[in-house]
Amino acid sequence: MIITRRRFSLMAAAALSTAAVRTASAQQPIVIKFSHVVANDTPKGKGALKFKELAEKYTGGKVKVEVYPNSSLFKDKEEIEALQLGSVQMLAPSTAKFAPLGAKEFEALDLPWLFADDATYDRAMKGEIGKWLFKKLESKGISGLAYWDNGFHMVSANRPLLNPSDFQGLKFRISGSKIADQYFRLLGSLPQIMAFSEVYQALQTGVVDGCENTPSNYVTQKFDEVQKHITVSNHAHLQYAVIVNSKFWGGLPADVRTSLDKAMAEATDYTNSIAQKENEDALAEIKKKGATTLHYLTPDQTKAWRQAMAPTYQWAKGRVGQEVLDLIAKNLDVKMN
Ligand code: LMR
Repeated sequence: MIITRRRFSLMAAAALSTAAVRTASAQQPIVIKFSHVVANDTPKGKGALKFKELAEKYTGGKVKVEVYPNSSLFKDKEEIEALQLGSVQMLAPSTAKFAPLGAKEFEALDLPWLFADDATYDRAMKGEIGKWLFKKLESKGISGLAYWDNGFHMVSANRPLLNPSDFQGLKFRISGSKIADQYFRLLGSLPQIMAFSEVYQALQTGVVDGCENTPSNYVTQKFDEVQKHITVSNHAHLQYAVIVNSKFWGGLPADVRTSLDKAMAEATDYTNSIAQKENEDALAEIKKKGATTLHYLTPDQTKAWRQAMAPTYQWAKGRVGQEVLDLIAKNLDVKMN
């Protein structure tokens, strides 16, 4: 294996963090570095800070949680590698970014119009689907602790996106999922994976023409200021999985882990309880700022988008496998083709 400079520094940091666990008995707090890519003022950002507050309280200071928001420590791809190497201990990536962990099945959650509403999403993640997906991580040395909600995607460009033909020839930034890649291709556009921290500039300079995301991410990253038209399409859902390195988590003293589990359960309830309102408020702010024009699809337009993207379901078999699709079909009562 070629050891690059970046990889070397990740490995050095990993050795340091193992040392941090060992010295816990000598009264040094155990440090949990929690890296993520969005702003503090979003559902995930607030959830991470809530976890910090509760974890430090419930462990009586035995644990210190350092939250690194806004890609300040690592960008999307690097943070996954850093977790595997142990140089960060906790992440909450969007489930669209799990293929590099060897768990492409998570991308099934990106299927267009999969969740009829928030309640359906919630039921899926709390039930068999959420549990089944977390099992897929075990063999990768990763443990899934919770799912955090961030609502439904909007989509934007510098022209109104009202009919499938409006997407023709436009370049769209996507976050990582091949399912999203597929539905953008079916609309005749050119999807491109890009780290979240690079999106604003890419939109501003025209490296890409458009993107998809939730209102809270648009407003905190100012995407609305560099996109003339946003369609509130709700065409796909954005959710996170809070994950830890299994070796790190399993190596924690049992009483500490119990307290952290409690902190995570409460932080999860909190995050999921604010997600919808945070996005409603963000959308209201975008409207008020008036830097962009918001569009809402008519029932006929929605039907045309759904029809254009529908072949993604058939295509998905080859990407995520039949098993997860069958599980979803059974639990959500949706047809897979
Ligand atoms: C994105 O990269 O678009 C999002 O997944 C960022 C995030 O974590 O919400």
